[in-house]
Amino acid sequence: MKVRFEVNGREVELAVEPRLTLADCLRHQLRLTGTHVGCEHGVCGACTVLLDGKAVRSCLLLAVQAEGSKVVTVEGLSKDEGLTPLQASFRKHHALQCGFCTPGMITTAHALLSEEPDCDADRVREVLSGNLCRCTGYVSIIEAVLDARPAYKGGTG
Ligand code: FES
Ligand code: FES
Repeated sequence: MKVRFEVNGREVELAVEPRLTLADCLRHQLRLTGTHVGCEHGVCGACTVLLDGKAVRSCLLLAVQAEGSKVVTVEGLSKDEGLTPLQASFRKHHALQCGFCTPGMITTAHALLSEEPDCDADRVREVLSGNLCRCTGYVSIIEAVLDARPAYKGGTG
């Protein structure tokens, strides 16, 4: 099947198997390997991307369901000139070790902070409860997200 959508600001048109997941499409056809695949059934959050601004599990979506949408992966949240405020905050707070969960944490947190730049620690915990990390514990991750809030309030996130 043909599918056409926008990914990180670029229009793409692909021929895909109807059963291909969006996660596998991004990784294998578009080579956007920042999106990680862990559980493949919606539990770990590693595959989280933004679909029309909402954080979604790309392992639970078919590529064809992205038709006409705007997809943003963790690569699309990066800037050529350096780390984004959220990325810099993750580094400052040592909010990652192996980094496998990090793309999903960043995309999920970005969606949250974009909509709720005043969110408190409880809200961050609630939203990130669907993103599993096996390395860091969650304290540093929560701190990193909270510390990035001023950038989103100021419109530079
Ligand atoms: S790989 Fe999608 S939620 Fe785990
Ligand atoms: S940093 Fe390793 S799983 Fe989170």
